[in-house]
Amino acid sequence: MSKYKIAIIKGDGIGPEIIDEAIKVLDAVSIGYEHEFIYEEYLMGGDAYDMTGDPLPQETIDGCKAADAILFGAIGGEKWDSLPRDKRPESGLLRLRAELELYANFRPVKVYKQLLDASTLKPEVIDGVDLLVMRELTGGLYFGEPREKGKDSAFNTMIYSKDEVVRIAKMAFEAAKKRDKKVCSVDKANVLEVSQFWRDTVIEVAKDYPDVVLTHMYVDNAAMQLVRDPKQFDVILTGNIFGDILSDEASMISGSIGLLPSASVGGKVGLFEPIHGSAPDIAGQGIANPIATIASASMMLRFALGENKAADKIDAAIDRVLEEGYRTKDISSFGAKEVCSTTEIGSIIADYVSK
Ligand code: IPM
Ligand code: MG
Repeated sequence: MSKYKIAIIKGDGIGPEIIDEAIKVLDAVSIGYEHEFIYEEYLMGGDAYDMTGDPLPQETIDGCKAADAILFGAIGGEKWDSLPRDKRPESGLLRLRAELELYANFRPVKVYKQLLDASTLKPEVIDGVDLLVMRELTGGLYFGEPREKGKDSAFNTMIYSKDEVVRIAKMAFEAAKKRDKKVCSVDKANVLEVSQFWRDTVIEVAKDYPDVVLTHMYVDNAAMQLVRDPKQFDVILTGNIFGDILSDEASMISGSIGLLPSASVGGKVGLFEPIHGSAPDIAGQGIANPIATIASASMMLRFALGENKAADKIDAAIDRVLEEGYRTKDISSFGAKEVCSTTEIGSIIADYVSK
């Protein structure tokens, strides 16, 4: 019997509700697969700040480092927006990413056939989309020094070292090898030195991957191509800020941001989270879509724990729930047989995985 220690960070807003459903599903899947999850809960974000004065208490960092994987809900909310930058919930997450060296952020976008009509894009444009945004997560504009907010001006620095670009590029090529063998590197090399450096470095790394086709695109064009013809993409490799923006854009291809999971890896322990935020406006109402978080738990099983069969089972259960017309409110206009609460969707998926 394998035992896995999972650090749980519920966070703010809808975080606790969606994480509870993911745990329900993990427990259900563990029954069939001879493994056991030991959950340890840690604070991060706004609630963590309210309780401890720090959005990322040391105990959370230590607990995460000692875990086999981290499952995370969401953080943030208007309530904390006026705090100094280092006290804001977001800075907790950014520091955790840096502490754990989670430099590679996998944001897969796939379209559920059952929800083809849920996207604002035409069904024929999105049918069959299966792409992966590979976002560099611990460098670039987010972390570059120096940075300063003065009275009359302010600046941030977009900086990438060779090592940083090489390691994320390798991740992208390795991922592409297991997919359609295409990497599109996205930059702004027509304007920015840092982007030209990024591009030159990616070209160098590509020499070790002759079976993968490498193309380049400027980020403005990539933003346009993503809605014009998203099927052209397999792996999109890009830096921190461009990846942040493009992955939100790409999520809309699937119809709801409530459907997409993500994995942040690179260091010893991986972190798995839905790509959506904490949605304080709907928190506590039982209407949040837990599917992105449940799919993140599945990514955790696959990426961090190597429990592929259990992950397959969860993915199949999500498909089946959508197939059978169970929908949370965000996607209720599209093929709903029954509109369900957050906990109902979680329970149905848990039921399917345990059969
Ligand atoms: C994301 C989020 C974060 C980011 C915020 C919450 C700091 O938007 O994970 O995409 O910008 O990286
Ligand atoms: Mg974002």
